Formats: sequence, structure tokens, C-alpha cells
Amino acid sequence: MNRTIKSCCSRWLRRAAALACGLLAALTAGCGAAEAEPRVLRVGVALYTQDDTFISTIAQELERMAREEEQARGLRINLSVVDGRSNQTTQLEQIDSLIGRGCDALCVNIVDRTAAAVLIDKAQKAEVPVIFFNRQPVAEDMLRWEHAYYVGAKAEEGGILQGRLVLEAWQTDPTLDRNGDGVLQYVMLEGEPGHQDAMLRTEYAVKTLTDAGVAVEKLASDTANWKRGQAMAKAQQWLDEGLGGSVEVVFANNDDMALGAIDAFKQAGEELPLVVGVDATAPALEAVAAGELYGTVRNDGAGIARSMLDLVLALAEEQDPAEAVELEDGHYVWLPYRAVTARDLEEPAA
Ligand code: BGC
Ligand code: CA
Repeated sequence: MNRTIKSCCSRWLRRAAALACGLLAALTAGCGAAEAEPRVLRVGVALYTQDDTFISTIAQELERMAREEEQARGLRINLSVVDGRSNQTTQLEQIDSLIGRGCDALCVNIVDRTAAAVLIDKAQKAEVPVIFFNRQPVAEDMLRWEHAYYVGAKAEEGGILQGRLVLEAWQTDPTLDRNGDGVLQYVMLEGEPGHQDAMLRTEYAVKTLTDAGVAVEKLASDTANWKRGQAMAKAQQWLDEGLGGSVEVVFANNDDMALGAIDAFKQAGEELPLVVGVDATAPALEAVAAGELYGTVRNDGAGIARSMLDLVLALAEEQDPAEAVELEDGHYVWLPYRAVTARDLEEPAA
């Protein structure tokens, strides 16, 4: 009898012990899994189009920096990059889906910068901070919600620096005035109509010269939508119209278009005028080194990516974003432009 009770008891004890062990194992396995599983940050990145040299550089930088942060912080950063294919309706649908899938923050390179209001309202409703970049929404829209931010460079500053490059060349090199009439004859290749960088770079590049007392004459101007191929076709057309020899300066709102103009002059066997761009893309810097592109203005794509990531991380940690980035008026992060000519390339890296 005693033995029966004893064996019964021990069986019960063994079962209880097994159960407890199982429970403990399950618990520790659970805890272990939670420890091993890093926190995941989901970031939606909406590009106006992937087919843009400067924008794809920003996306690549963002990806690279996110991987570095993962290592440094022991978390996972899932970037979902979507291509708006230059269509605002498509982009809005993509953003709906990113929000629907539960993203923690949105980085938006908006297709139509006058269409930000609806997007900000969607983000606010879902409480997902939205960081616009490169394509600047109108100021009133940015005020709709405290967690709407813009990261970019000041468009007029890009124009001023480009204008100064030409001004300096004009003042120091008399041969630039090919026809010797004391007037600077130029053509202008503009970016997408309505883009702040197209409008303001165009205006301020020329204004910098005229403010300095330089007489200028516009021989032709047209939009080439930031694209090398379109710029080449426009420049080709101007050359066909016989403008070739009279162009003293080609202003291009970005490097791809500057390179397109160079392509056209070279193909036509025309002497290259002084050509300036903006961005400082890798192929543009090669053209500067080769003496074909006189200069460019560095558009800080890596800086844009860095500031966006810093904002995303700060917001995810519920930190004050102003502590992570230099925030102007509570909404804006401004990156400086910097002029680049062959002289800058010669300087040893700091
Ligand atoms: C860049 C262009 C680019 C455009 C796209 C501009 O700031 O200079 O190269 O195509 O942004 O929005
Ligand atoms: Ca002249």
C-alpha cells in the first residue's frame, strides 16, 4: 500500500516535474526567441521614379546606411522601395498599401509636389510620420501636421552657386566671349516643369550674373525633364538650327542634361562651349576631370539619405527629432550645396 502511494506519488511528481520543465523550456525558448529576434523598423520609401540618376543614388545610400545602422543598433530596418513611375495616382496607391502593411515611417519623393496635402492627411490618420525629400511640397501643406518633414537642399542656392561658377569664368577668361560683343550668349536646359529645382536654379543662375552686371542673351531654352537623352535631342535641334558657334555657355539644371548637351556638341563635331550642371554625379565628375564639363554643384544625396534615416530612427525611438537633425521651423532639414570644378578634384581628400 505504502509502495503504491509512493509510486503513485512519484509518478505524479515526475509528471509535475516534466510539466514544469516543459513549461520552463517553453518559456525560456520563448524568451530566447524574443531576445534573438531584433526589433524591426518598417520604412516605406516612395520614389517619383526609379529611372533618375540622382534619386537612385539616394535610394542606394539609404539602403547602405540602413545596413550599417542595423549592425550598430542590433535592429532590422526593412526598406520597402516603390517606384511611382512619374504618376501621382500610382504613388498614392503605393502609399496606401505601405500604410496598410503597417509601416513605421514614410520617406516620400513626391511625384507632384502640389499634391502633398492628401498624402499628409493619410499619414496623419495612420499616425505614420512622413518625410518628403528632394521634391518640396508647398509650404502650407507642410503645416498640416507636425510629423510632416522635408529634407533637401535650397533650390535657389544651387542656382546661385552655378551662376557664380560661370561668373568667375567670365571674369577671368576673355575667350569665353567667343564673338567679343561683351554679352554672354547662353542656352538653358531645364528640369521638369513645376519642380522647385528647375524653376529656381534657372532663375538664380542667370540672376547671379545679371546682378553682377553681366549682360546676358538667352539664345534658347527648353525643358529636358532632367534626362540626358532628352537634353541631347534638344541640343541637337539647336545645333541643327545653326546655334552651335554662338553658344558661349550651356546652363543645365542637372548633370544628366549637361552631359546630354555635351553628347550633342561632340556628336556634331562642334567645339564645346562652357557647360555647367548640378548634382556632381559620378559620370559628371568624370566629365569634369576630362575637361568637358566645366563645373557642377554638388547636391548632397548621401546627406539627404543620412538625415532621413536619422529622423526615422529618432521618431521610432520617440525622441525629439530636433535632437537628431538640424530642424528649421520644426519641419525642414536643409543640406548645403557645394560648387565643384576641376580645381576641387585636384585637391587631396581632406
Ligand atoms: C536633381 C535632379 C533630379 C531631380 C529629381 C534634382 O534635385 O538635381 O538630377 O532629377 O532632383 O527630382
Ligand atoms: Ca558674347
